Amino acid sequence: MSANARAVPVASRYSRRVVEERDPHAELLADFRAGMLEPPRSLPPKYFYDARGSQLFDAICDTPEYYPTRLEAELLERHADAILEASGARTLFELGSGTSRKTEYLLAALERRVPAPRYVANDVCGEILDEAGARLLRRFGALQVDSLCGDYAAALGHLDESPAAASDGPRLFCFLGSSLGNFEDDEAGALLTRIRAAMNPEDRLLLGLDRVKPRPVLEAAYNDAAGVTAAFNLNLLSVLNSELGADFDPEGFDHHAPFVEEHSRIEMHLVSRRDQQVQVTELEARLEIAAGEIIRTEISRKFSREAVDRLLALAGFEQETEWSAAEDWYSLFLLRPLAG
Ligand code: AVJ
Repeated sequence: MSANARAVPVASRYSRRVVEERDPHAELLADFRAGMLEPPRSLPPKYFYDARGSQLFDAICDTPEYYPTRLEAELLERHADAILEASGARTLFELGSGTSRKTEYLLAALERRVPAPRYVANDVCGEILDEAGARLLRRFGALQVDSLCGDYAAALGHLDESPAAASDGPRLFCFLGSSLGNFEDDEAGALLTRIRAAMNPEDRLLLGLDRVKPRPVLEAAYNDAAGVTAAFNLNLLSVLNSELGADFDPEGFDHHAPFVEEHSRIEMHLVSRRDQQVQVTELEARLEIAAGEIIRTEISRKFSREAVDRLLALAGFEQETEWSAAEDWYSLFLLRPLAG
């Protein structure tokens, strides 16, 4: 990631801009200072997604235990035409698009509806944006793809400068994969409010949320037998080592991902296997981490109907349609922004 906004043309139908509100390195330093110097330690999950972390997340989606991606893909495959029809969209804008694999169902439906479909993708990982862009251009002969590399806030802040934003007609904003579940209620409300502020009255938001379900199903999804989620979680330590000149020993931590019922969320933990010291060169700091101590690396909320309603009310959205899979184990919501 670089600090400068720049366009990287890969093909005439593809562009990538680096968008940043703040220097990402400075942001990591600040987040590390705020969350990691003393227990209880935690970091925001966006730092998982370097090139390797993005590949590992992709591999998680292919594990038999990780049901959210499959359920969402089924819903998108089945309802893509209805979603595009209901939204009337000519442009798709997606936050946290990753490989954009599930999005292909929506893009196929968009291509059936409009002659010059446009897709604005956003992710913190530039490599995955370029890979996805190349694949999408091959599959969709008329599609224009514009990538915004940066976090959600940066993408929303720069949306109006992206070429696709200028296209007329309604846009479908997509926030899939239950990524909103990474945020506590107040942060989630603030992010949804920010999304709403970037929308025109005729735009719609397609929000994918994971729902409450039996604990064994939830815990299996975050503790897959092949250890892919464990590798994903531990990869964060490698990111910290290379970005901050730290010397975390990945062997010194265990992956643990319990369902915490009182918060209705999976928590991803790295548990220290022993008393250990970690040197962080860039901060000139040394952490003393005790055996059994936890670094919380992610929350992944599982939404009840009440939690969904509360969030929508908080952020000023009205539900137009809900499509749910397998006894409400996963839901897509088509949302209309309220004025004001
Ligand atoms: C991409 C944030 C939705 O919370 O399920 C998967 C990330 N972490 N396995 C999730 C994740 C561990 C995922 N989100």
